[in-house]
Amino acid sequence: MIDIDLIAGARPNFIKISAICHALEAYNEKADKPIVFRLIHTGQHFDKNMSGDFFDQLGIRQPDINFAVGSGTQANQKASIMVAYEKLLMESPSKICLVVGDVNSTAACSISAIKLGVKVAHVEAGIRSYDRSMPEEINRLLTDAISDMFFTTSRLAGQNLLDSGSREEQIHFVGNTMIDTLFRFQSQFQIPEDLEREIGSKPYILLTMHRPSNVDHPEVFKKLLDTICETVSNDYKIVFPVHPRTRKVLEGIQDQYNNVIWTAPQPYFSFMGLLQSSRGIVTDSGGVTEEATVLGIPCITLRNSTERPETVDTGTNILIGKDIELLIKSINSMCRGEWKSFNIPELWDGKTGDRIVQIIQAAL
Ligand code: UD1
Ligand code: UDP
Repeated sequence: MIDIDLIAGARPNFIKISAICHALEAYNEKADKPIVFRLIHTGQHFDKNMSGDFFDQLGIRQPDINFAVGSGTQANQKASIMVAYEKLLMESPSKICLVVGDVNSTAACSISAIKLGVKVAHVEAGIRSYDRSMPEEINRLLTDAISDMFFTTSRLAGQNLLDSGSREEQIHFVGNTMIDTLFRFQSQFQIPEDLEREIGSKPYILLTMHRPSNVDHPEVFKKLLDTICETVSNDYKIVFPVHPRTRKVLEGIQDQYNNVIWTAPQPYFSFMGLLQSSRGIVTDSGGVTEEATVLGIPCITLRNSTERPETVDTGTNILIGKDIELLIKSINSMCRGEWKSFNIPELWDGKTGDRIVQIIQAAL
């Protein structure tokens, strides 16, 4: 029987699951009784540059199963994943279903598993933005409501879980799998040659945007992009790896911005190479705020709230929301190299995967 299913579906999942796969493989090499694990890709993300490149670069073994569900509405995508995973579990059960993060694949697989009596372990549990207009917040609430084991990135996340009725013995403060992957591969981070040539000798700001609240409404998106491009002085370039969700809103307006280098979504090593050599990043990503914090790179987040307050309290991140004046002021500080000091959050030390595997092994 399978001991544990590892679920991954979207780009940030692959970075987190890589740390757990490597920790399981290291454990199994020495163990008398290896942990039998199955890697399941839901197919939520499917383009090579949103999926396959990450398996190749991060040394993640090929998925044992790919549900290939593709894109769809929230309900459509979740339902396809739920049905596919339920069918698999009925044919070939596992003892634990381990999910990471807050994407549709996370919540969908948790629901199918728990209904069939399979224990759910949630990595990155307990974080809350308290903004229920975000699909991710709903996915977090759903997943945490039915999980049996919680692996957390901060003490606050543990407290959030206690406040919502989870028991102390279910909660394990282990640190951050995303940062395990960062430390494991840091020596390979590198800007690809063609981009390096295009950037030339100028410093640059890195930009990523993919939140529905920022990119699904052309007028909101354009206002933000106009402000960023007008504020970043001509001494700087802007490098913008464009998420597939954002592609559509750029159609017909891209040529208006002459200080932007547009690129496809970057493979992890290239993106992290770009991040670590940038003057700063403007983003609406969640994971990137954690990486910027650990690398000490100034980070402006185009959101009103964050489920990762440690990136603001001790890290390099500041929240802008839609406050255009604050955005201008913050970009100016970034370009001048004036930013707050930072610390790396507790237990973000590269050993989180090992801690998770020890706890899973004891639970099995
Ligand atoms: C999803 C997650 C979000 C996460 C993001 C990471 C949910 C609800 N959202 O958002 O939390 O921050 O991934 O990147 O789970 N598309 C492609 N190729 C792909 C993948 C997507 O073209 O490989 C396009 C499709 O047209 C799709 C759109 O991007 O309609 C959005 O994809 P989807 O997975 O629904 O949500 P994301 O915005 O990527
Ligand atoms: N990332 C990447 N290439 C890119 C943009 C992001 O490899 O072009 C990585 C980034 O380093 C981080 C993760 O993708 O590890 C974050 O994923 P994303 O922003 O898509 O999702 P979120 O964290 O907001 O859910």
